[in-house]
Amino acid sequence: MLLCLCEPTTEKDIARHAADGVETVAELGKRCGAGRGCGACHQQLARVLHNARVLLNESRAGKPSERDSVAL
Ligand code: FES
Repeated sequence: MLLCLCEPTTEKDIARHAADGVETVAELGKRCGAGRGCGACHQQLARVLHNARVLLNESRAGKPSERDSVAL
């Protein structure tokens, strides 16, 4: 699913950028252009970026993620 229509960007794209150290929507925009058009996607980009960073941090800390808990 596309999160930004002005610069086609998926949740998977955002997870990849989060893994590369992107922390904010502004950084994401500089990296790939997402959110630099009309701006309608900013809240959604911020939410998905935040969730991706939480999952990354949990993974790096060896904690089970919410997704793991739900799958059990
Ligand atoms: S939909 Fe992302 S900038 Fe327009």
